[in-house]
Amino acid sequence: MDNLLKIQNCNKHFNGIIALDDFSCEISKNEIVGLIGPNGAGKSTLFNVITGFISIDSGQITFNNHTITKKAPNKINKFGISRTFQGLRLIRQMTVLDNILLSFKKQPGEHLENVFFKNKKAKEIESENKRKALKLLKDTGIEDKANDLADDLSYGQQKLLSLLCCLASDAELLLLDEPIAGINPAMIEKILFIITELPKKGKSVILIEHNMDAVSQVCERVIFMDTGKKISEGTPEEVRNDPKVIEAYLE
Ligand SMILES: Nc1ncnc2c1ncn2[C@@H]1O[C@H](COP(=O)(O)OP(=O)(O)OP(=O)(O)O)[C@@H](O)[C@H]1O
Ligand SMILES: [Mg+2]
Repeated sequence: MDNLLKIQNCNKHFNGIIALDDFSCEISKNEIVGLIGPNGAGKSTLFNVITGFISIDSGQITFNNHTITKKAPNKINKFGISRTFQGLRLIRQMTVLDNILLSFKKQPGEHLENVFFKNKKAKEIESENKRKALKLLKDTGIEDKANDLADDLSYGQQKLLSLLCCLASDAELLLLDEPIAGINPAMIEKILFIITELPKKGKSVILIEHNMDAVSQVCERVIFMDTGKKISEGTPEEVRNDPKVIEAYLE
């Protein structure tokens, strides 16, 4: 399988707390990999270092054979990596539609002349982004919420919106941090369905999730980490039955 993301010997400490301990893994094109492990295992930290939100102490990360180690988050996003946050990070006082529009890679307002005087090209980008955003909302059944404030959505709808914002950037690799935690079964199924369709669209996913049934449903491969280390890797079945994994959860 074609290699997309390569994480080599990454270390990250926070004032003596080990968050990543010589962590290495590889992600191929068009695959969904589950990243599981107990609270505090270092899963979100791994996303933070991949996306440049936190710099690693040592190690190397390459994406599509470009070194992205220690690059700024906006540069890494432009390379084609997008993420959701465990704490959602929506702009709550903006509409659902505007939250999605902000996530597109091509933004008409980025050049100074467009701030004062919108040219034809900028207007085209703006209406194309709006068309794509409305399609994302329609495809997931919440187009009637387009002009509502993000704050007024239910928690499950906010989780969905956060995923749609991640999809809007059209990244090749999506890092999803607990996208179905704390939401109702119908919304879980909707979000899992969206995730399972992504490889067909040329995308890869790393899915952090505590719900092992959901992980088994959508992931062919799972990585189990604990205290910053990769402890086990394999099919969901193999990892679930690995004595090292059972022991880590019983500790
Ligand atoms: N910015 C930070 N500053 C200090 N310590 C941090 C920071 N981020 C994470 N940590 C610590 O690093 C360790 C790994 O945290 P991380 O958030 O990556 O775990 P996690 O596997 O995502 O856990 P959870 O399942 O609870 O979300 C924890 O001990 C945490 O307290
Ligand atoms: Mg976390």
